[in-house]
Order: sequence, then C-alpha cells, then structure tokens
Amino acid sequence: MGSAMTVELRKLSAADIESLVAMESANQARPWTRGMFDDELSGENRVYLGAFGGNSLLAFAGMLLNGEEAHVTNLLVAPDQRRRGLARRLLVGLIDEALSGGAKHLTLEVRSRNEAGISLYRRFGLAPVGVRKGYYGDDDALVLWAYDIDSPEYAKRLEGLR
Ligand SMILES: CC(C)(COP(=O)(O)OP(=O)(O)OC[C@H]1O[C@@H](n2cnc3c(N)ncnc32)[C@H](O)[C@@H]1OP(=O)(O)O)[C@@H](O)C(=O)NCCC(=O)NCCS
Repeated sequence: MGSAMTVELRKLSAADIESLVAMESANQARPWTRGMFDDELSGENRVYLGAFGGNSLLAFAGMLLNGEEAHVTNLLVAPDQRRRGLARRLLVGLIDEALSGGAKHLTLEVRSRNEAGISLYRRFGLAPVGVRKGYYGDDDALVLWAYDIDSPEYAKRLEGLR
C-alpha cells in the first residue's frame, strides 16, 4: 500500500469483525478472540475506531467509557503502517469521543517492556501510577493515567498531537 494513500478514521461496527480478528490474530501474542470483539462492539459505552486505507483496516483502537473514566482497551497498528501517526490519530479520536461522553480522566494498561507504547502514551500525558505483576503472564502491566483531560492545559497538549 502506498504511503501517500489517504487514511481515514471511522467508527467500527460488527461488519468489521472479520478484519479485526485477522489483524489481531496475526499481530498479537495473546489475541482477542472473535467473541471478545463481538462483546466489545455490541457493548454499551464503548467506542472503537478504525483507520482505513481504502477498504483495508490499517489500525484500530478501542475504549470503554466508565463515568468520568475513559479506559483504552486495545490499540494495534499493522506492522507495515507504524510510525505514520496512526496510533496518535486514533488516540486523539478516542479522547475527543471521551470528552464528548463526559470523561475527565484516561487510563490504560501497557506491557512494562512495550517501549513503543510507553513512548506514545507519554506524549498523551499518560504516566505510570502502578504495576500489575504478571498481568500478561510473561510481563507486568504498567497502569497509566492522565488526569483532567477536560482541562485547558490538556486541550493544549491535545492540540499539539492533532
Ligand atoms: C505502539 C503502537 C500502537 C504505535 O503505533 P504507531 O502508529 O506506529 O505510532 P505513531 O506513529 O502514532 O507514533 C506516535 C509517537 O509515539 C512514539 N512512538 C511510536 N512508536 C515508537 C517506537 N517504536 N519507538 C519509540 N517511540 C515510538 C513516538 O513519539 C511517535 O512519534 P514520532 O513518530 O513523531 O516519533 C504500534 O507500535 C503497535 O501497534 N504495537 C503493537 C501493539 C501495541 O503495543 N499496542 C499498544 C499497547 S496497549
């Protein structure tokens, strides 16, 4: 796929499950199952966004809105599409949705050895507040939070990431 191709973001639906399962199972050590995607895409208070080049799913990200807390549940960019800003765009999209839904804080778990993920999240002001030992079996999870994403300071940070 040419790197000049326009990439568009849109909300995912049950019609995208085949693509999600294919991308997830090809690229994740412990992939979400079809049933998990089914549940998430049909669940309440969820937002799943996909980045598409034409009809091809290149990346996706999902979130659970739990009152004032928005919890990023999954984020994956196809290996040949990385470092093109897709994860950044998806996270900005999720945060816009979170703010519209009344969220004030953002949280997620990331593998402690996932340097790419941790660097990305740092740019979004997500900082470690705890560790879940053995959360991934072979790795610990860092629990990251960004507080007050509805503040003017955070709006400024987000502007710089658009
Ligand atoms: C982590 C991941 C989502 C990043 O996706 P991406 O689309 O390549 O990220 P972006 O291009 O939007 O990067 C935005 C910024 O994040 C940081 N970043 C992303 N990948 C990085 C890497 N490999 N090393 C260091 N910093 C990185 C950089 O600051 C980058 O900005 P820059 O390219 O201008 O330097 C992708 O590598 C991936 O899908 N990994 C496997 C799944 C995963 O780890 N998911 C997240 C865990 S919850």
